[in-house]
Amino acid sequence: MELREFADRVLFSADLETKLAPERGPFTDVNSGPAERVPLPARPPNLQFCERKESPAMPHPDTFGDPLRRGVAHHIMANHELQALEVMAWVLRAFPDAPTAFRLGLAGVMGDEQRHTRLHMQRCHELGVEFGTLKVNRYFWGKAQQFGSVLDYLAGLPLTFEGCNLDHTLEFEEWFLAVGDVKSAGVMRAIHHDEIGHVGFGWRWLKALKEAGQSEWEAYQSHLHWPLRPEKSRGKTFHRGPRQAAGMSDEFIDRLEGRGGENLSQDG
Ligand SMILES: [Fe+2]
Ligand SMILES: [Fe+2]
Repeated sequence: MELREFADRVLFSADLETKLAPERGPFTDVNSGPAERVPLPARPPNLQFCERKESPAMPHPDTFGDPLRRGVAHHIMANHELQALEVMAWVLRAFPDAPTAFRLGLAGVMGDEQRHTRLHMQRCHELGVEFGTLKVNRYFWGKAQQFGSVLDYLAGLPLTFEGCNLDHTLEFEEWFLAVGDVKSAGVMRAIHHDEIGHVGFGWRWLKALKEAGQSEWEAYQSHLHWPLRPEKSRGKTFHRGPRQAAGMSDEFIDRLEGRGGENLSQDG
């Protein structure tokens, strides 16, 4: 299957089953087509984007003894995963001239995001919340509209949002285990494992595509668009291990953590 065809299926199928259907390849990239920035992905009527304040806030972990609250958390995370998938499809259409190896790698990551979406959908269903019964926001999709290059994408999604998820997945695993929900914790651990690979993919391509003579940190910072900034790549507790496993250098991890170099919080 052509990569553009796969991207189009994800972006223009309103039907969730079609959007989330796994496509193992082999992929080809012969007709990558013109560069097009798709303004909105097709979605079923009950999963149309709403304003951020209209969608439910993430329930506080102190409420996770209630299965329905955990179901809401999985519903919110299913929408995050679905947006990650849609943003990646958007990147395939927006940057047809990116290296084929990058585009093929991205299609592999999209297969993981399809699976992550289904894992959260299944788990919220089991906890009594059907996916599509709560309002969903467009936070990640909206941020992606600022990406003007593949490097912007790498800084924004894999190195900031997916980087942050390295910490978030471990926090949620701990919170779910604290209330004895081993199954939800298992979902978080599985996604954490995949996310290490996704951050590693972003790191390798940042190194490959940055300007010669620029450090990884300089490249990362120069491609982040406000309000994205390095602090957004950290959860409540910063974990070095998964970032080392993703291949990041110790120097880069130090700077992400806010140690060494300039004051990372000077701009808010
Ligand atoms: Fe994911
Ligand atoms: Fe991911």
